[in-house]
Amino acid sequence: MDKDVTSCFSQRARWAAGQPISELMAQALANPELISLAAGFVDSSTLPCDEVRRAVEKLMADPHQARAALQYGTTHGDRKLRELILAQWQAADGNLARTDLDLEQVILTAGSNQLLHLLADTLLDPGDIVLTARPTYLVFLGIVRNVGARAIGVPTDEDGPIPEGVEQTLKELEQSGWLPRVKALYLVPYFNNPCGATVPQQRRVALLDVLARWSRHHLIYLIADNAYRELRYEGPDIASMSCFDQEGDRVIETGTFSKSFSPGVRVGWGILPSALVRPVLDQKGNVDFGSPHFAQKLMAQVLQDGGYQRHVKMLQATYQEKLHAMLQAAEQHLGKLPNIKWRHPRGGLYLWVELPEQVDTGPGGRLLQEALLEGVLYVPGQYCFPADQRPEGTNTMRLSFGVQSIDGIQSGMAKLARAISRTLAACSTPSRGQEPSRLASARLAPQ
Ligand SMILES: Cc1ncc(COP(=O)(O)O)c(C=O)c1O
Repeated sequence: MDKDVTSCFSQRARWAAGQPISELMAQALANPELISLAAGFVDSSTLPCDEVRRAVEKLMADPHQARAALQYGTTHGDRKLRELILAQWQAADGNLARTDLDLEQVILTAGSNQLLHLLADTLLDPGDIVLTARPTYLVFLGIVRNVGARAIGVPTDEDGPIPEGVEQTLKELEQSGWLPRVKALYLVPYFNNPCGATVPQQRRVALLDVLARWSRHHLIYLIADNAYRELRYEGPDIASMSCFDQEGDRVIETGTFSKSFSPGVRVGWGILPSALVRPVLDQKGNVDFGSPHFAQKLMAQVLQDGGYQRHVKMLQATYQEKLHAMLQAAEQHLGKLPNIKWRHPRGGLYLWVELPEQVDTGPGGRLLQEALLEGVLYVPGQYCFPADQRPEGTNTMRLSFGVQSIDGIQSGMAKLARAISRTLAACSTPSRGQEPSRLASARLAPQ
């Protein structure tokens, strides 16, 4: 008998192996003394304890409502919450809002990651292709790999995917016979995780135009992941991708209350083109036939009471201060080191940093070990690039200003600068080899 237990694991288990997100989450939670500039969590001190307590009290005060909240809901999700989400989305889009959206197009999920999974299950067969920005949300890359599909990065600048670059990529895929396998372009239009880029309005129109022209074999969808739309600290909001979707059949909007309210409640949502609603709900029926109803009722209560809107305002003020603290600390500590660049995001939770090319920020590189010795953690940027192309972003990192206090941000950045400085010095001295005993003592994930 074959004793290798892995031999009975599915192909999907193999495709899923080695994803970095759970390890990164575990490091952040298991090492309270480490200053994690890696975790994309929200600041614990801002979590809406009072809002949630008040909403639960209200929900439980009426026995009829209370029982409904504690019962299973529908696969589609709570109607009241879907109405509130749709109204809020249309209000945010102002006079460009799509007024032809139907409530049936709005579905609720257990966080928006679940919706991304359901979309992958609905749209992708093994060998299919999704185009993504470079860099992009690292968990999405795992979701694509999980179904045996491929993510292909498109040329990207500080405003997101470049329309001409998407066009060129599609042309090359057509020449090599792969165009029929392209199912979607995935993008984070507001404050991309990891690099903070927001796609300007004109570019939104241009990207949709490219996809429309290249939808020769079938419709190429645009998955717009709006996880950070409400976390804007500077400048006016931009209308959502669906406002520029001429036929209203291409853009899939996904959203979540995880960043703007509470990840513990974990309610996500989607506004789908009509043709996708049934197939996505069929997938969901097989997964959980409805996400936790209590969490949905809670969110509906919080939105109705105005507690959500107050909370978002408070978050915007808090994170604006933290963003500025991080930018100042970057200037103070990284600014004095050679050839280090970072971008100024106008929202979201992340700062994207590019180091000199010779610095390997990856898990096998010296910098991560030096950083751990200093007691600071970052996300290696290479995780955010589609892996089946040549290694990319090996000199980049994602820093988050979400979790740490202002003091934590300042001291984390000082520690990071010391780690970078030592790594740069080691890169520029002829190799004496690493110092195995000292570096080996830095463990990535102490138990
Ligand atoms: C771009 C992006 N999309 C989706 C999510 C998932 O959020 P949730 O599943 O908690 O709704 C995250 C979380 O970090 C994210 O950064």
